[in-house]
Amino acid sequence: MTESRTKDHHVKDMGLADKGRSRIEWADNDMPVLRAVRARWAKEKPLAGLRMSACLHVTAETANLARTLKAAGADILLVASNPLSTQDDVAAALTKHYGINVMAIKGEDNDSYYSHLKAAVLRKPNITMDDGADLVTLLHTKYQKIAGGVIGSMEETTTGVIRLRAMEAAKKLKFPVIAVNDAVTKNMFDNRYGTGQSTLDGIIRATDILLAGKNVVVAGFGWCGKGCAMRASGMGAKVIVTEVDPVKALEAAMEGYQVMTMEEAAKIGDLFITVTGNKHVIRAKHAKLMKHGAMVCNSGHFDIEIDLIGMAKETKKIKKNVRNFVDEYVMKTGRSVYVLAEGRLVNLAAAEGHPACVMDMSFATQALASEYLVKERKKMGKKVYNVPAEIENWVANLKLESMHVKMDTLTEDQKHYLSSWEHGT
Ligand code: ADE
Repeated sequence: MTESRTKDHHVKDMGLADKGRSRIEWADNDMPVLRAVRARWAKEKPLAGLRMSACLHVTAETANLARTLKAAGADILLVASNPLSTQDDVAAALTKHYGINVMAIKGEDNDSYYSHLKAAVLRKPNITMDDGADLVTLLHTKYQKIAGGVIGSMEETTTGVIRLRAMEAAKKLKFPVIAVNDAVTKNMFDNRYGTGQSTLDGIIRATDILLAGKNVVVAGFGWCGKGCAMRASGMGAKVIVTEVDPVKALEAAMEGYQVMTMEEAAKIGDLFITVTGNKHVIRAKHAKLMKHGAMVCNSGHFDIEIDLIGMAKETKKIKKNVRNFVDEYVMKTGRSVYVLAEGRLVNLAAAEGHPACVMDMSFATQALASEYLVKERKKMGKKVYNVPAEIENWVANLKLESMHVKMDTLTEDQKHYLSSWEHGT
């Protein structure tokens, strides 16, 4: 195995390219909406001549998005949005078989990760795509001159949108950004069903534990938390939710989950999953209370939800890799707490991320948002925009069609009734 590196790409092993191509094609079978976009774009070329830099998880599903953007005429470079989420065979296949340059290696160190981000910025992209706002942040800090030439950007995840809205509020944003994450065709499906399934998949692949009968603590009851709680409960776990938002806490309680503080939950949880988008949700003081053998993992975007540095200070020793993606923190209390995937996204590090069927909707929305941005750029300001309803409806309709699901349509009389106000009791 030798890394393949030029000024345009950096992947782990070109020998993996054929395996990666099969995997990309397999995922494509379950991405009919994105395929429909690609077929139209191959004729219309709406992104012709545009340079794009995309900082996304380098997976088979993302590969199909990149193929779609290329079919539209874009010249694209793909870099990783997380050092542990890259599928090396997919990175090799994109570069070798699809003519799409990738700079990403699973397990790359911080220097390599940031050198790839830097390359994505230095090629002076017209459009950027982010999953966590790393490219946009670089363009607004170290490379402000290059930001002047950017038409706009798309953001894929909750954490990124939080950052971008903060930039907009501080009047620091230098170009329009479309909050793809906030589209219902993204978050209600990808965040809920995708995170719900893939998080448990990552946990099970890493640990091989039985979920039935376990106390599973889910920190955060947004769409991702709802998905994790629903699926853990479906597998027989007793789910406990921790929250800081009263409405979400109430919703969790009425769904039948126990809701309590992390301090209380720490004493009884067998498995902890953080999906809050915030930092230090699990801290050393919680880890000190945990039972021997408790497992902690994160499925939120950044690896800051579990305070591993603080926890490490309370350990006697850390045994790395007791299984793949499992580190044992032997606490000063004498009890061991197991940390999965170094506190990074467990679903992408230890499993394959969300299945293609659900990424189909996210990435079709993402793709169509970039076409909208290019068409409407003259009318757009330095703001965070929502995905237009027409795009969401188009994606939902086509997904339904691909699933052979038929819906009713309103009669003329019903339409009239809905748009009138005179009818009372
Ligand atoms: N985020 C979560 N799952 C993903 C996947 N399969 N591909 C790209 N980004 C993802």
